Amino acid sequence: MEIAVTRVGQAGTRPKDEDLGFGTAFTDHMFVMDYSTDKGWHDPRIEPFAPVTLSPAAMVFHYGQAIFEGLKAYKTPEKKVQLFRARDNFDRLNRSARGLCIPEVDIDFVMDALKQLLKLEKDWIPETLGTSLYIRPFIIATDPFLGVRSSFTFKFFIILCSVGAYYAGGLAPVKIWVSKDHVRAVPGGVGEFKTAGNYAASLNAGEIAKKQGYAQVLWLDALERKYVEEVGAMNIFFVIDDELVTPNLTGSILPGITRFSVIDLAKKWGMPVSERKISMDEVLDAHASGRLKEVFGSGTAAVISPVGEICYGDRVLHIGDGNPGPVAMKFYQALTSIQYGTAKDTENWIEPVV
Ligand code: PLP
Ligand code: COI
Repeated sequence: MEIAVTRVGQAGTRPKDEDLGFGTAFTDHMFVMDYSTDKGWHDPRIEPFAPVTLSPAAMVFHYGQAIFEGLKAYKTPEKKVQLFRARDNFDRLNRSARGLCIPEVDIDFVMDALKQLLKLEKDWIPETLGTSLYIRPFIIATDPFLGVRSSFTFKFFIILCSVGAYYAGGLAPVKIWVSKDHVRAVPGGVGEFKTAGNYAASLNAGEIAKKQGYAQVLWLDALERKYVEEVGAMNIFFVIDDELVTPNLTGSILPGITRFSVIDLAKKWGMPVSERKISMDEVLDAHASGRLKEVFGSGTAAVISPVGEICYGDRVLHIGDGNPGPVAMKFYQALTSIQYGTAKDTENWIEPVV
């Protein structure tokens, strides 16, 4: 399929690197294509980033049939543009698509479309460590219909955004709050898919956490409210003694690509790592006995985010000394140097763009 390109008349300007936050500095163009049952995915195009016209009855507004991805492009010191594990994100998009009755996309085609879009927008990719171009592919249901069923028409978009750190404090340890009353996802549900409703379901508890000064919610399993699952926008790791522990993928946790990368690196370095159930009781015990050395989150937007405090009911656990711990820093260093092209891509995670 040929991609039609319509360019903007007047290019926008990228904010200075030091002014970049997360999720507001959109680039000039976006990629769009449409789906209908008779034509499949069709009419791929790159066009100016602009508001979209949809029927107020479009199904996405009412029943949330929507999926998305989050990945990043980086600029190397040689000014090359590269993607980190991008195919894994489109694989996950297709898994989410199957889970939400949305038609899958052709990964080779969307990779090419993304590269074409990135070539056009390469000036929007900042270079300072900690900044990058965040890529948000998403698919929404567009049938103007109020009955509950899967849509027959969809739109796929890729929008881009120059970003800095996800948390305003950058690498400074974040504070997280364990929700006892709300759950994010249930076994057999859609927790492992990157679908809009999971984030909508997290907002109420997120507001409660914020009011108490916590950045995000740490979710527990829905059945027993006992085992740690993940954080609002990242997976979670605990360093207990010298072992790295992360919750196993139960179906209600997002299978994070950064999570897989951390596990792969740990195995490569000979660091003991286990994916298993970990209860809050175990975390409390490990903390009380001084064996809980570090806690950190992993995610595309969050990169590696040290956790300095966990609030669980009336217990407040302080972890570390207020600075990022050595294990979190080692993963941060290793991942970012591959992502920014300052270290060799020993894991074959990098996809060059230009
Ligand atoms: N968990 C949730 C709920 C997320 O939204 C994200 C972000 O994508 C992650 C985990 C981390 O996933 P990844 O490392 O693929 O970005
Ligand atoms: C990402 O890390 O890409 C995410 O999707 C997190 C996001 C919800 C901000």
